[in-house]
Amino acid sequence: MVQAAVDLIPDSADDAYREFVAISVGERHYVIDIHSVREIRGWTAVTPVPDSPPAIVGIINLRGEIVQIVDVRLCFGDPPITPDGSNVVVIVAVGGQLIGLLVDAVSDILSVPSDAAQEMPAFDGGAGQRTVPEVINHEDRLLGIIDLEKLVDAESLFNTAGLATDAPVPVEDDSGILPLAQIALVQDSFANVVPIADQAAALFYEKLFELDPSVRPLFKGDMVEQGKKLMAALGVVVSNLKQPEKIIDTIQEMGRRHGEYGVKDEHYDTVGEALLWTLEQGLGSAFTPETRAAWGAAYGIVADTMKSAG
Ligand code: HEM
Repeated sequence: MVQAAVDLIPDSADDAYREFVAISVGERHYVIDIHSVREIRGWTAVTPVPDSPPAIVGIINLRGEIVQIVDVRLCFGDPPITPDGSNVVVIVAVGGQLIGLLVDAVSDILSVPSDAAQEMPAFDGGAGQRTVPEVINHEDRLLGIIDLEKLVDAESLFNTAGLATDAPVPVEDDSGILPLAQIALVQDSFANVVPIADQAAALFYEKLFELDPSVRPLFKGDMVEQGKKLMAALGVVVSNLKQPEKIIDTIQEMGRRHGEYGVKDEHYDTVGEALLWTLEQGLGSAFTPETRAAWGAAYGIVADTMKSAG
């Protein structure tokens, strides 16, 4: 669903009042100066950009202009949005270019007296101070005014080098092995596990052997090395979820070897349980129910492929 572009700026701007678009981001509410807002759109699939900062969920082609879509929740340190038809993209003009802000909802258009805005109390550091420098008291609610320049001031958010605006943007759809939103959840969360891979692997085997001590004798080699191999294999799978045809042979081969190690079909459930538990330990609150479901689905596909070859 794409809403038509709307003319949000009143013709006769009155200096005594400031106009804002009110948005909700997770549980919180903010406002954006209406003069920056170009368009409010329903969520539509985006084209992911490899190696982009996590807050950039992808790009869209907006009437010939490439627009980066930023997950505002991530800018505020919250878990990412799993976008669906209820989410909204607010297209804003910042620093001479258009940026799409993926938010949970647009709740209101406000007109408030200019003197209602107050400076946010100063405190040391913190994204809140930088990106929300002012606050308004509106109908007994305090709403932070987002400074868009600061929200997206990371150079990398603006860096569109390599994105030729006249090149056709490849269309990605949900016809793959997993919906794109789930792939994104798995890939983004795995990126946060990579820095703690060794600890995660150690935790994983500890949990696995606790859940099923009978599999311990199947492992003959050094468990630190084994942990590295496991994490490397997961990395290969995770990074190829959008092109599984490239790794299907590798996964089947691995499945055949696992049969030779004495691995039985029922072991895959226990390994899956240990894996999800480990991810939960490593990712904490970022391991949302959606992320868990996405990992469960991805693991299930790999396990089924290995089992049928084993
Ligand atoms: C998605 C599922 C799994 C992945 C990605 C995975 C990954 C790996 C990798 C990369 C190795 C290194 C050797 C090789 O590549 O053959 C390995 C070895 C092994 N895996 Fe898995 N594995 C999975 C499931 C399982 C399950 C369900 C079991 C059952 C307990 C298991 C038990 C073993 C054993 C016993 C070895 C050999 C260790 C040794 O020789 O000391 N794996 N696994």
